[in-house]
Amino acid sequence: MDKAIWVLLLFFCYFLIGNLSAQDIEHSERAERISGSAGDVLEDNPVGRLKVYVYNLPSKYNTKRVKKDPRCLTHMFAAEVFMHRFLLKSPVRTRNPEEADWFFVPVYTTCDLTPNGLPLPFKSPRMMRSAIKLVASKWHYWNRTEGADHFFVTPHDFGACFHYQEEKAIDRGILPLLQRATLVQTFGQRNHVCLKEGSITIPPFAPPQKIWAHIIPPDTPRSIFVYFRGLFYDVGNDPEGGYYARGARASVWENFKDNPLFDISTEHPATYYEDMQRSVFCLCPLGWAPWSPRLVEAVVFGCIPVIIADDIVLPFADAIPWEEIGVFVAEEDVPRLDTILTSIPTEVILRKQRLLANPTMKQAMLFPQPANPGDAFHQILNGLARKLPHDRSVYLKAGQKALNWTAGPVGDLKPW
Ligand SMILES: *[C@@H]1O[C@H](CO)[C@@H](O)[C@H](O)[C@H]1NC(C)=O
Ligand SMILES: *[C@@H]1O[C@H](CO)[C@@H](O)[C@H](O)[C@H]1NC(C)=O
Repeated sequence: MDKAIWVLLLFFCYFLIGNLSAQDIEHSERAERISGSAGDVLEDNPVGRLKVYVYNLPSKYNTKRVKKDPRCLTHMFAAEVFMHRFLLKSPVRTRNPEEADWFFVPVYTTCDLTPNGLPLPFKSPRMMRSAIKLVASKWHYWNRTEGADHFFVTPHDFGACFHYQEEKAIDRGILPLLQRATLVQTFGQRNHVCLKEGSITIPPFAPPQKIWAHIIPPDTPRSIFVYFRGLFYDVGNDPEGGYYARGARASVWENFKDNPLFDISTEHPATYYEDMQRSVFCLCPLGWAPWSPRLVEAVVFGCIPVIIADDIVLPFADAIPWEEIGVFVAEEDVPRLDTILTSIPTEVILRKQRLLANPTMKQAMLFPQPANPGDAFHQILNGLARKLPHDRSVYLKAGQKALNWTAGPVGDLKPW
């Protein structure tokens, strides 16, 4: 770009931000209700619309693992633990499996962390197979549908493909024994082997107490235009670059590291949450997976999420109007990010901020303890309720089999 135009553009931007933060934004961050069906869905109450039976599995599949490593309560996959706890106390729970619409199998497959806290899913397939075998032998509900009225929380990077690298995840595919079940997972990308039709895409877990402890007054000016903290390259796992984030994060860094409108860095400051509340736009680029906790943080902190992840399927997309609250930028358009963001009209920015200020939307992104109406737990239940009644065709005839118990990589067949 011509240098003179660039300077002019910068000047215009400062003017725009100055204006926004000084007057409009603080006055207009009043909440606006989401109109139409999305708003209704967001406010649905699932109680009375479904009954869930929670299998009582040996503690080695769930609670014992958390006792061994309490970090499983705070990492971004902790939804598998909290959903279980929530269901045990929920009014939708039934202790009579004969009247259940849905069966929940509580297996904490991501609660297996390396010493430095990385959840690796290498043992997950065997653990999952072991739990399903147990459920199928001890109760007779699994065999009726071979899992079609059962649901699982599989929050790892690529869900039930159980690998953190995309190519390997694609090679593995969804664990064969889960092919008829409903998967509740963070991973969501259109036309991807690791996203089964009918899955429920959820937000990653972000610790609610920690988030609420960092809330600053809502009238604080948003003086940062674009904010991002995180990796641009993953040299350890992708030394040549290009695989990680399909090059999108590297492109953000290379194009905008010296641009004064962009507050981007790998350093995670203590004021990270506060800084998001002082920002107009928060970048949410893909990493190894298309999503990251930034998505949740941006919504909760009222910072317009700039979603850079082609074909991403976002959490609770039938309830949250992502197109209206966020900005979508194609991965190949990252070099034009500055012009794209500075050319969004002020009214559009203000409307997105008003929608983001809606407390029901923030609620839907979190898994608070205790639970609240409309939170992510309730949105999951709403998703399950909307899939009822089950189609008659999911019930197998006597002796009929749909799953292949010996399919998949041989390593997965070893006992757990
Ligand atoms: C369900 O089917 C499997 C084999 O497919 C069998 O081993 C198991 O005993 C059956 N479960 C019940 C409760 O009958
Ligand atoms: C089940 O999968 C195994 C391993 O892929 C395969 O050898 C076998 O033929 C399959 N069985 C059926 C009935 O499709």
